[in-house]
Amino acid sequence: MTTFWSWYVSLLTSFTLLALLWLIFATRKGESQGTTDKTMGHAFDGIEEYDNPLPKWWFLLFVGTLLFAAGYLVLYPGLGNWKGVLPGYDDGWTQVGQWQREVHKAEQEYGPIFARYSAMSIEDVAKDPQALKMGGRLFATYCSICHGSDAKGAMGFPNLTDSNWRWGGEPETIKASILHGRMAAMPAWGEMLGDEGVKNVAAYVRQDLAGLKLPEGTQADLEAGKTLFASTCVACHGATGTGTALMGAPDLTHPAGWIYGSSLAQLQQTIRYGRNGQMPAQQEYLGQDKVHVLAAYIYSLSNKEQKLAAK
Ligand code: HEC
Ligand code: HEC
Repeated sequence: MTTFWSWYVSLLTSFTLLALLWLIFATRKGESQGTTDKTMGHAFDGIEEYDNPLPKWWFLLFVGTLLFAAGYLVLYPGLGNWKGVLPGYDDGWTQVGQWQREVHKAEQEYGPIFARYSAMSIEDVAKDPQALKMGGRLFATYCSICHGSDAKGAMGFPNLTDSNWRWGGEPETIKASILHGRMAAMPAWGEMLGDEGVKNVAAYVRQDLAGLKLPEGTQADLEAGKTLFASTCVACHGATGTGTALMGAPDLTHPAGWIYGSSLAQLQQTIRYGRNGQMPAQQEYLGQDKVHVLAAYIYSLSNKEQKLAAK
């Protein structure tokens, strides 16, 4: 800010505050003392105004706000180029500065704790109550928006508390999922298989692979579905349909682990248009050490029994 504008802002602000101070005291002088029945003599739609003084607390509130403003303008930047004299901020207070200080403080405080866990194996961290508490808090902040606050997932987002894994449930695999993210690619088969083909293979997946009943009156050729599966789907989902963790192709014999629904309509939708589930990578964002603790937290969720046995 140039000197001119700095003075302009400072003088205007100070003058306004002083004028307000004057106004609140000047108008107080004209008031009658104590409560009265006298009215001011004007009426609005039958509503009249008594000539009573401002309640004391109300008046003091005004004075308080003015004092607050004065104190604030001394401590914080506000008057032109004045940087404020808040203790600990040599260059003047800024929002960014305060945020950086808080981050720095948190890192100093928690950094060594995270680093200590980082040196332990994920299995061992998963047995540490304090680490699990920290992991739970990180999860609530960064993961629950997609996976749910109970980590049980939702449509399109996997449940992380069960034993059904798309990419694998080994401690290091879970960590890799979080660290580097995952991009699943289930191609769209609508064009290639046609409507009939999609219906048949969907019925085959639901009944023969997943062992779920088909709705009554379903018109589908399960044999044709089986043939299509063997020619088109095995490459990723495997000959027996149990999936390939390396590609994140889920086990189709285990509908409890599905995330896009198991109704015939949902299966057809998945097969016709494909799916592209994306787990965002956290390496840059959270860093190794926090992800390590998070992986332990997830691992503990899906290994409750093991955790109990360890106690
Ligand atoms: C190129 C590899 C590939 C091929 C070929 C493939 N899939 Fe998939 N499929 C995947 C992947 C990867 C996913 C996971 C998608 C996701 O998580 O978003 C998936 C997901 C699915 C799902 C959803 C499961 C759930 O969680 O709800 C179904 C059903 C499915 N595939 C059936 C089939 C059928 C039937 C075929 C053959 C017509 C087929 N897939 C062919 C890779 C493949
Ligand atoms: C923007 C939404 C989103 C956020 C945020 C998110 N995830 Fe995911 N996550 C997904 C999706 C979608 C998948 C499934 C990808 C697929 O289709 O294979 C997934 C998959 C995973 C997997 C692999 C599951 C398996 O079955 O192999 C793990 C582990 C995981 N997430 C942990 C986390 C953790 C820990 C966090 C918090 C740091 C997190 N996720 C934040 C969307 C999200």
